[in-house]
Amino acid sequence: MLPLVIAPSILSADFARLGEEVRAVEAAGADWIHFDVMDNHFVPNLTFGPMVLQAIKPWTKLKIDAHLMVEPVDALIESFADAGADLISIHVEATKHLDRSLRLIRQKGCEVGVVLNPATPVATLDCVLDQVDLVLLMSVNPGFGGQAFLPHVLDKIADVRARIDRSGRAIRLQVDGGVAPDTIGAVTKAGADTVVAGSAIFKKADYAAAVAALRAGAAA
Ligand code: DX5
Ligand code: ZN
Repeated sequence: MLPLVIAPSILSADFARLGEEVRAVEAAGADWIHFDVMDNHFVPNLTFGPMVLQAIKPWTKLKIDAHLMVEPVDALIESFADAGADLISIHVEATKHLDRSLRLIRQKGCEVGVVLNPATPVATLDCVLDQVDLVLLMSVNPGFGGQAFLPHVLDKIADVRARIDRSGRAIRLQVDGGVAPDTIGAVTKAGADTVVAGSAIFKKADYAAAVAALRAGAAA
């Protein structure tokens, strides 16, 4: 397994102070910055676009992990790559031509992620696993921070872990939604190596303590 990565979701940050918030979680020991893009069409919420990613880019040296919850997605893949995203993840339902969209992310020089919703079958990965760097399993229905972790996703994590191990490639397995000190242990035990945490970090007063509590929960 690859070393644990903790990616705070700035969906739960103070949007009026986004640059400072990003700098603060980097100082607190975060590994990546998770950037949740919502379009009020693929998901029922609206967040931020490539100009905001470009604005926060100078505030951090960490990898910016852009989770695109938008449909159609291809034009925005290009915009987010140009804005400075390091990794771009797209939902299988957000494009009619998943293979083409994943190749576009690669062509733009970014790492490639594919996202499965809680009800998306794992078999969807069969024809794309060889071209991705990361599989993201949603453990809530996308659209909002602060939702409860869906426990049935633990079986999916174990299933995808086995598929990644069989592939022999160093693909990261990321889990997003409801990850907190009390749920992260089950998530990493099932085989995830990368976790997103929004409210479990940004809704706490002490970000360093929040990141440390997640690492402790993962190790327990
Ligand atoms: C949900 C987003 C998540 C969300 C996680 O659609 O993709 O990244 O911000 O928030 P928490 O950790 O609060 O569940
Ligand atoms: Zn996300």
